[in-house]
Amino acid sequence: MKIFLDTANVEEIRQGIEWGLVDGVTTNPSLMEKEKVNNFPAVVKSILAVTKGPVSIEVVATDYAGMIEQAHKIRALGDNAVVKIPMTLDGLRAIKTLSSEGIPVNCTLIFSPIQALFAAKAGARYVSPFVGRLDDIAEDGMFLIEQIKTIFTNYSIDTEILVASVRNPMHVVRAAIIGADIATIPFDVLKKLPMHPKTDEGLSRFLSDWKKIFPDGKFPL
Ligand code: E4P
Repeated sequence: MKIFLDTANVEEIRQGIEWGLVDGVTTNPSLMEKEKVNNFPAVVKSILAVTKGPVSIEVVATDYAGMIEQAHKIRALGDNAVVKIPMTLDGLRAIKTLSSEGIPVNCTLIFSPIQALFAAKAGARYVSPFVGRLDDIAEDGMFLIEQIKTIFTNYSIDTEILVASVRNPMHVVRAAIIGADIATIPFDVLKKLPMHPKTDEGLSRFLSDWKKIFPDGKFPL
């Protein structure tokens, strides 16, 4: 499963890349607001430059013509720019046009299996089901991922399932067990994933035993 970072913070992306954990990036208007982005083109260009993989940038137009215009501007920023289009009727129409032009689209704000199927039929490269926001209203976000996975497998659909609105490590574990293609993860969740108290305890015991042989802690090679 590929790991994307769900952020508009360039330093977080750099750090995640150094750890070898970032295959791509997703952004949205709320993440831009969180970073108090005012020079939008500069920030987007920096994110595209540091990230080798795909970077999703969201349109804010809601009508077909506006989405197409903004999509072309986004795509012109780099070959790894993916256009994020919301799941609406105008959005579906825009996805169809953009995908026929060879522009990769990530269809966002997916909350039902039919929305995912329709986005895929329109030609979306990625669908982004929001698991955390479904959990927030007492639905099972990960069950949606299972449903989409089954539908895409039934019909050999190659649109990638990009699990979004990830809030905790168990979302990531379940996404991998289900066989989702990608999980896009906030930086604070990403940092928690490699942690295990038994790893810390084990390392501490190895180091204290080593000091019993070599009190200065040196590695004599
Ligand atoms: C990413 O593509 C989504 O926009 C993002 O994961 C939404 O996350 P949130 O529900 O935590 O805002």
